[in-house]
This record gives sequence, C-alpha cells and structure tokens, in this order.
Amino acid sequence: MSVIRVDATRVLGRVDRRLFGGFVEHLGRSIYGGLYEPGSPHADEHGFRSDVVAALKDLRVPVLRWPGGNFVSNYHWTDGIGPVEDRPTRMELAWHLTESNHVGTDEFLRWCEREGIEPFLCVNMGSGSLDEAQSWVEYCNAPVGTYWADLRAANGHPEPYGVKLWALGNEMYGSYQVGSLPAEQYVVKARQFAAVMKRTDPSIQLIACGKDGLDEWDRIVLEGLADIVDMHSIHTYTGSPNYWVNQFAPYQAERALTRMRALIDDVAYRKGLDKKVRISYDEWNVWYRYTEGIFAPSDQPPLEERYDLGDALAVSTYLNIFLRHCDLIGMANLAQMVNVIAPIFTRTDSLFLQTIYHPFRLYSEHTQALSVDTFVDGPTHVLEERPEWEHWIWRAPVSDMNPFQLLDASATRDEDGTTVTVTVVNRDRENAVDARLDLVAAQVTGLAQVSTVVGPEPYATNDFDHPETVHVVEDQVDLRGDATYRFAPHSTTVLRIPL
Ligand code: AHR
Repeated sequence: MSVIRVDATRVLGRVDRRLFGGFVEHLGRSIYGGLYEPGSPHADEHGFRSDVVAALKDLRVPVLRWPGGNFVSNYHWTDGIGPVEDRPTRMELAWHLTESNHVGTDEFLRWCEREGIEPFLCVNMGSGSLDEAQSWVEYCNAPVGTYWADLRAANGHPEPYGVKLWALGNEMYGSYQVGSLPAEQYVVKARQFAAVMKRTDPSIQLIACGKDGLDEWDRIVLEGLADIVDMHSIHTYTGSPNYWVNQFAPYQAERALTRMRALIDDVAYRKGLDKKVRISYDEWNVWYRYTEGIFAPSDQPPLEERYDLGDALAVSTYLNIFLRHCDLIGMANLAQMVNVIAPIFTRTDSLFLQTIYHPFRLYSEHTQALSVDTFVDGPTHVLEERPEWEHWIWRAPVSDMNPFQLLDASATRDEDGTTVTVTVVNRDRENAVDARLDLVAAQVTGLAQVSTVVGPEPYATNDFDHPETVHVVEDQVDLRGDATYRFAPHSTTVLRIPL
C-alpha cells in the first residue's frame, strides 16, 4: 500500500496567487486571432473575445505577462499608441511575421483593467533604448504633467495605469534573441535600465532576466543584480513523445528551484543583503511538437501545440513542484494562454479547452493559502531512456533523478487549518494506485470533494469535434475511518478534505 503523508502543521510557505499567472505574446494567433479578434462573433466592442476571457476567468489567472517573449526584443512600444490607423506595420524579426500594432499599450492595459488582471510588462533590451524603457514607465505610471503622461491622457487614459511588474528583457542570453549579449554585459546594461525605470517610478518591481536556473548565466546575473531586483526569472520547457520522459522532465524545474534557492541564500549572505530575491518562473510548459517559425519563416501558424493527457499530467507535476517551493516563487506564468502552446484553442467562431487546461484550472481554483509538507512512498519508475533534449539548450539531462515516484503530491491548507487540499498526479500508465492518506495530527471531519482529470489513454487529446475526451469528473468520498483512496491510472486528482 502506498502512503501519502500530509503534515498540515509543517507549513512550507504562503502561496502567492501570482503562481497561477499566464503569458500572452505577440506571436502567431496568441493575440491576433486569439485574445483579440474583431471579426469573431464573440468579440466585444473593443475587439477582445469574450469567450476567451471567460475561459481565462475560469482559470483565475491573476497576472499576465506581455508583450513577449522573443517578440519584445524588437518591439518599440511607441508604435502601438495613438490612432490605430496611424500605427506602422512592422517587420517582426523574432518570429518572421509582421506586427500591425493594432493591440498596443492602451488596448492591453485597458483590457487588463476591465478584466481585473494584473499586467506584467517586459521591456525591450534588445533593439530598445534606455529612453524607451524609461518613457514606457512614465507613460504607464506617471501622473499627468510630463510629456509621456500627458500623451497617455491625450490617448484617453488620464489616470496612471500603475503597472507594478516590469521585466528587464527576455532571454537575453540566446543567440536567437535580437540584441543578445554575454551575462556580464547584460548585468551592466540591466543596471542602467533599472536605474532610470526606478527613478521614474520607485514603486515598481523589477524582474531580472535569468535563464533556466541551472546555468552560469543565472549565477552571474543574480550576483550582479540581487541588490536592485525583486525577482529573477527562469524559463523551462520540457516534453517528449516518449511518455516516461515527458512525465520525468518537469523535475528539471525542481532541480532549478533547488539550485536557485541555494544561490539566492549564498548571494544574500555574502553581499549582506537584507532581502531575498524571489523567482519569477515566467515561462514554463510542455512544448516539443510545433517549432514552426522559430528558426525560419513558416506557412503554419507557429507553436500551435496540440496537448494530450500525458502533457496534462506533466503540467500537474510542474504545479506540485511550484507549490512545494512556493516560499521561493513570487510569480509563475504558464507559457502561453491562447493558441500558442496554450490551454485555450480558438477558431473564429468557437474554442475548445486543451487537456492542460483542466489541471491548471483545478489547481488554481482549489489551492489554499499555505503550502504544507507532503511525503510519498509508493511504486517507482526507472527511466531507462536517456532523455533526448534535441536543440533546446535549457533541457539538460535529468536522468540522475531516477527512480521517480509514480505518484507526485502537494498539499495546501487554509489559514485556520479546517480544510486541506491534496493534489496527486498518478503517472502510472496502466494501473490505479491505492494509497493511504496519512494526515499527521489531523482528523477528517466530513465528506471530501474529489475532482479528477481523466481520459481514455495517455495520448488522448481534445479537439473541436471531441472537446471532452479529456475532462474533469467530480465526486465525493468518505475518508473518515479508512483514509485510503484509489488513484486512477494516468490521472490528476484534487481532494478537498474537511479537518
Ligand atoms: O513562449 C515562446 C517563446 O519561448 C518565447 O517567446 C521565448 O521567451 C521562449 O523562448
């Protein structure tokens, strides 16, 4: 019999709701033809799709990163303000596309205001200048009375938007990135950008451009910026057609967080800092199938990954990892949200929810205030195959983390300890796993609510004709007395247990 021990008295940390953040980039059909599609029957009076917004609302996404991604490193924000008909159409060098600039700063920030979503902007540190970064903060956050703030007022928004979250560039280490540079040079440049942005609005929070949490880049950037930034970003994409590699690969995030925790402690101690930088895990997901448009122009809409149930299990494992390390994570952003490597997939007249939508929705809805300690002892799997990481430089081998438990769990509880939510992903392909829920120093006092992401087999997908192949089943279970539960094969289960 497997055991899942949950010790609600051992609090690991407070969960920041921003852990359930998202990311929308000017890339393929993410914004144009996704979030924003004036020709759709679902478009509101501003051109934004109400059905997409409703699906995002159900995900309870508190924060969205925008406008990139690689896109931002050749994006000039001033192209996207003022009368739409006067805005230039630009050649877009990151994704070999064109940018109409129909959605710009005011469209995005007003939409965020209407929908109650916090914006997280990333400045252009590739082709962009210090002045552009400074003036963007002024345009968004300064009271009227200076040039850029007055221009914002003239464009219809006299009140400052008050954008708090600002990233200092995107993936500046990558040769594919417009304006990439060595880590030491990035540090010098980022300090200059940070200084003018903070002088413009001292209340903003800055996010340094880290890498995968495992690289020398991360060490140099953290050393160089820890005293002036609030967060250090990490990006991790994993995935494989091999089911086991796909399930195993998210532990790369656990490795990255473990290393960053040590580095952050070390830098804070050596520099005598009275604060600790947190992690902004601002791109993470399964992504390995559709790479069109990255290395060369393509006729296909780029990055329209079609997810299967196995990918949904991998996403669940990522979320368990984030909850176990929540004391370190200031924000995490699923990359991305609409059409492009995304849980929401649209065509002009409708949408369907991809497999990965379901665990994200359940975790976001049922995660509680405090993450608590879990321990799993059950069947394990040994990954025989060495992962093939293809061309992705941030997918380093992880085979020394063998063997791995087939069950992976995390747990959260409310402030007064009257409810615990236990989230369990069973990666066993064929077999259910019976596990005893060992609730340390706690008694179950009523029926538990159970939500389970299920599908017929690990490679099952949803599409427009079969939107429910992978779906959520709701149930109740009595765990008083005998607290054993049978976790279905290839499933994610969320148990809400009254204590
Ligand atoms: O999310 C897709 C791309 O992946 C982003 O533009 C980039 O930052 C990362 O390489």
